[in-house]
Amino acid sequence: METVKDMLSAWMRAGFESALAGTDADVSRVAVVPSAQPQFGDYQCNDALALGKALKQPPRALAQKALDACAPNESLERMEIAGPGFVNLTLKSDWLARQAQAMGADERLGLPDVGRGRTVILDYSSPNVAKPMHIGHIRSTVIGHALNRIHASLGYRVVADNHLGDWGTQFGILLAGYRRFLDAAALERHPVEELERVYVKSYELTRTDESWLAHCRQELVKLQAGDPESRAQWNRFIELSLGEFNRIYKRLGVTFDLFRGESHYNDSLKDTVALLEAKGLVRESEGALVAFLEEEKLPPCIVRKSDGAFNYATTDIATALARFEEFDPVRIVYVTDERQQLHFRQIFSIVHRLTGRGDTLEHVWFGLMRLPEGTFSTRQGNVIRLDALLDEAERRALDMVRQSSPGMPEAQQRAVARAVGIGAVKYADLSQNPQTTVTFSWDKALALDGNSGPYLQYAYARIASVLDKYAEQFPGQDWRGVPIAFNEPVERALGLALCRFPEAAARAAELFRPSVLADYLYDLAQTYSSFYQNVPFLKAEPGVRESRIGICALVAKTLRKGLAMLGIETPDRI
Ligand code: ARG
Repeated sequence: METVKDMLSAWMRAGFESALAGTDADVSRVAVVPSAQPQFGDYQCNDALALGKALKQPPRALAQKALDACAPNESLERMEIAGPGFVNLTLKSDWLARQAQAMGADERLGLPDVGRGRTVILDYSSPNVAKPMHIGHIRSTVIGHALNRIHASLGYRVVADNHLGDWGTQFGILLAGYRRFLDAAALERHPVEELERVYVKSYELTRTDESWLAHCRQELVKLQAGDPESRAQWNRFIELSLGEFNRIYKRLGVTFDLFRGESHYNDSLKDTVALLEAKGLVRESEGALVAFLEEEKLPPCIVRKSDGAFNYATTDIATALARFEEFDPVRIVYVTDERQQLHFRQIFSIVHRLTGRGDTLEHVWFGLMRLPEGTFSTRQGNVIRLDALLDEAERRALDMVRQSSPGMPEAQQRAVARAVGIGAVKYADLSQNPQTTVTFSWDKALALDGNSGPYLQYAYARIASVLDKYAEQFPGQDWRGVPIAFNEPVERALGLALCRFPEAAARAAELFRPSVLADYLYDLAQTYSSFYQNVPFLKAEPGVRESRIGICALVAKTLRKGLAMLGIETPDRI
């Protein structure tokens, strides 16, 4: 289905096009946006202002000319020119009702198929082997997975790739430390933590003990040369880490299509650097091979160190080239914390110089989320035990569920608490503008009256129960046979909100911002709540009653689908 916004934008654009035929005005960007002031209309078009300026024509007159040139549009009740030249558009309520009805009947719930035939690669989570996931990886995991679901719902072919940090100098230090410091029992209990402990101990020793440092280097050389025993040990590190990472992914309900770590590209690093040399994109400097990026106003980027070793940058260049080759994506999206902005700007510039496809690359970064002190064990800045965080979320959610549904069987209470607790943690991440630093707060994450996961899950469950009540009170009757109508202003407002779901989803994908969808869902739930409080539905007269139940069902469906796109479950009862 086409979104209302796209339909109106195309219509408006055609009007400007014929009104301005023969001029050199560029109308390709003419579009409508949701009204800033709903009392004046549902959508507005602001383009007459800029076009008027460019053409030295009064914007109001230009807007009028465009409206006169527009084809008749059966969806519109009113078109008005306001202020300096805005065009305000108001939809007919019965057209809106038919649109909502069609959306409900559509198996894609009106979501446009904009991704058809297009591949998007999403690089998210990507933790480092033998190190615990830190809060940055967790945000990357949750945001990346939401982007995955959003794009898939819009018809994109998604390739979710976990670019594990499974190569690099740390493995020499780890291999040496493993033999010397390992506590086998601790490895059994918490493998990744034990590996990290061993790594830290070994690393510390390299700083005071020259011979230990030399030994670590030796271990790295052996690994890189393919020594079978070192390789086997390295494989074991990956296996142990993946075991723990996978447990976390399972708990979060997060999935990937590929787990191609950095090591996957080892064999192509030489060729990648040779290509950079052949194209004259790198120069030798103090023994290292460096890409100078003055034109882009970026600092130089080393692609081969003076000791001949390749680095993180080399791997990411090789990875991008390999992904272009294998998947021909329209986008490669990297989700990491803000500290990698410079790295990706450099990589994108170099890849652009190599392929001309830099526009395809997108870094989605987010600020680090601060955790409240003392809520769960924090170590070393923002490294946390995710399990402790999720355990606490489930515990708190269980208290809520026990209060709201004391009669529910214990096992079900626990299942619901799982969905609510994990949903709350995810939503707290997803609903924020990712590019701000926020402090996580339990009160906010679990609030039943604010912009939270549980608020939306409760809203969904309450609507589900309205549908059950209808079935109980009117056995044998079916609301589905009666078309939706928007008669009251609150109904119409809700109808408009419903019809904006596909736009919100498309916008979230366009901006790579799940928070756009989260904001939309919160707005929808609030609009529903004023509908719920202001008009009767089970007690409404027959016909009106069925229409309202139909509206409820569509709101429920939209909340469920929207939350699923954020990776959040919607239990029917809470
Ligand atoms: N392993 C990196 C880290 O933990 C993140 C990798 C992000 N993806 C990439 N292609 N560089 O910081």
